[in-house]
Amino acid sequence: MPEPRIFRDEPVSFVRRSGRMSEGQERAFAELATHYLLDVPRGAAETSVHPDARLDPAVEYGRSGALYVEVGSGQGHAIVSAALSRPDDDFLAVEVFRAGLARTMLDADREGARNLRLVEANAPEVLSSYLPEGAAAEVWIFFPDPWHKNKHNKRRLVRPGFGETVARALRDGGLLRLATDWEDYALQMREVLDADPLFERAFDGEWAERFVGRVMTAFEQKGIAKGRDIRDLVYRRKTRA
Ligand SMILES: C[S@@+](CC[C@H](N)C(=O)[O-])C[C@H]1O[C@@H](n2cnc3c(N)ncnc32)[C@H](O)[C@@H]1O
Repeated sequence: MPEPRIFRDEPVSFVRRSGRMSEGQERAFAELATHYLLDVPRGAAETSVHPDARLDPAVEYGRSGALYVEVGSGQGHAIVSAALSRPDDDFLAVEVFRAGLARTMLDADREGARNLRLVEANAPEVLSSYLPEGAAAEVWIFFPDPWHKNKHNKRRLVRPGFGETVARALRDGGLLRLATDWEDYALQMREVLDADPLFERAFDGEWAERFVGRVMTAFEQKGIAKGRDIRDLVYRRKTRA
């Protein structure tokens, strides 16, 4: 058996923001977490996942719907909207930002989206061991932190080796959808995934069309306001041998 990867030996793609939670956010964790927030056995750190922990989607969602995973779901606008518009599918938001998780739970509860779960954890660990192999129909990564200074590039989520991590979680033919307003990161994503033998492009031309299921978020608006091009990419996981 290969040794499990120790993710805490690798740079993480986030800095945890602390700060007081508002009353509403506290309420979300106190009252809504039992339905929405997965209780994950931890490993070495607060946001890590114990390497032996496994999600059983059929038990958690009470059915076997197609599972859509959003990495870095922020305030949850995209995934709550998707969960509402597609009640027959199941959704999982992966985020480390507690205020964002609270907002996601509050919105989901208010709008009545029950087919959604949240996990407060470092996404590569969720993809590489917590999700059963081949569990996800799609993985979405919209506006990941760009880590634009050269010396910080190594903290980018989509870096060499990331394809293998996502490919494990995706079913055969499953899709990895990405969007960014940071040109240099878009180029890096394309280079990393074009070179990955487990993926093939699922778009023609230079960039993919805007994913219709992607709602406008503050990050996209900010990029547009600064005159940046928004780049979408979509890759298909090849069939396992
Ligand atoms: C720039 S924000 C974009 C949020 C959202 N996708 C949007 O478009 O509005 C990136 C988010 O990814 C989260 N994030 C970064 N690295 C992560 C990781 N390794 N695991 C889970 N969440 C992560 C951050 O906490 C942050 O909320």
